[in-house]
Amino acid sequence: SPCPQRSLLKALWEGMRRVKVIICAVIVFFCFAGVSIGVIIDQPPSLLHEVGQQNVNLKCKQDDDQYLYMYWYRQISNGSMELVAYSLGKDISTIEAPFKDTKYSMSRPSTLSTTLQINQAEPGDSAVYYCASISLHCDNDEAYFGQGTKLTVLEDGVKVTAPQTVKILRPSPLECRDQKKKEGKRRKTLVCVASGFYPDHVTVFWQRNGKNITDGVATDAAAKRNEITGLYSITSRLRLQAKTWFNPDNEFSCYVTFF
Ligand SMILES: *[C@@H]1O[C@H](CO)[C@@H](O)[C@H](O)[C@H]1NC(C)=O
Ligand SMILES: *[C@@H]1O[C@H](CO)[C@@H](O)[C@H](O)[C@H]1NC(C)=O
Repeated sequence: SPCPQRSLLKALWEGMRRVKVIICAVIVFFCFAGVSIGVIIDQPPSLLHEVGQQNVNLKCKQDDDQYLYMYWYRQISNGSMELVAYSLGKDISTIEAPFKDTKYSMSRPSTLSTTLQINQAEPGDSAVYYCASISLHCDNDEAYFGQGTKLTVLEDGVKVTAPQTVKILRPSPLECRDQKKKEGKRRKTLVCVASGFYPDHVTVFWQRNGKNITDGVATDAAAKRNEITGLYSITSRLRLQAKTWFNPDNEFSCYVTFF
């Protein structure tokens, strides 16, 4: 017959194990929720600033006070990301060298919000400024980034101008012949050109029969500037199967948003 004391011990041990399992499950659940939902970082997509105006204020909010560390990065036109400033908590901030605290100041009035101020902004300060935050919770030190605020400090003498023309160039008949010689399906490429805008705050997207499409779309990483007019243009290409292009039921459109 089993020893009653032993089976009591065993039951206790089982109970403790169950508790341990439950505690682990709770921790894993919260960490998992943190990773999968993440923090929402809200910053405006665009900011235009005239030289000689007051200081520029780049604003950012987040929705989770577990994300204690906040950062401001800037991305300049060659793609480099540079850390400008960071904050380890409310009312604490540091400007990262080589950036100067005479030029930048970072405020952190609460865990949930921060502003990066640029004093005496000049065209050279034009860049995309990213706000980011990191949680100290559950060893999850993944950084979350906002969409970035594209700042343009406007140049003297160039007026803010929305794209003056947007046009779609039809596929070249040559493309058809060339593609036929190769293996695989025949392709057709539509080209959308938007031009005559300043500054370069645009996004391009395509629709087929009124629905957004992203497959086969390639848009220039950066708009090109006309040195004489100071205005920009950008090109986007949509690659299709030839049969999709020749189907008369399909209608393609290219949209350019100026923000
Ligand atoms: C981009 O430009 C900055 C400053 O002019 C320079 O320090 C950096 O090395 C450049 N990065 C790349 C990837 O070219
Ligand atoms: C299509 O894409 C654009 C740009 O990403 C977006 O602003 C717009 O809301 C999208 N429209 C629909 C119907 O999804």
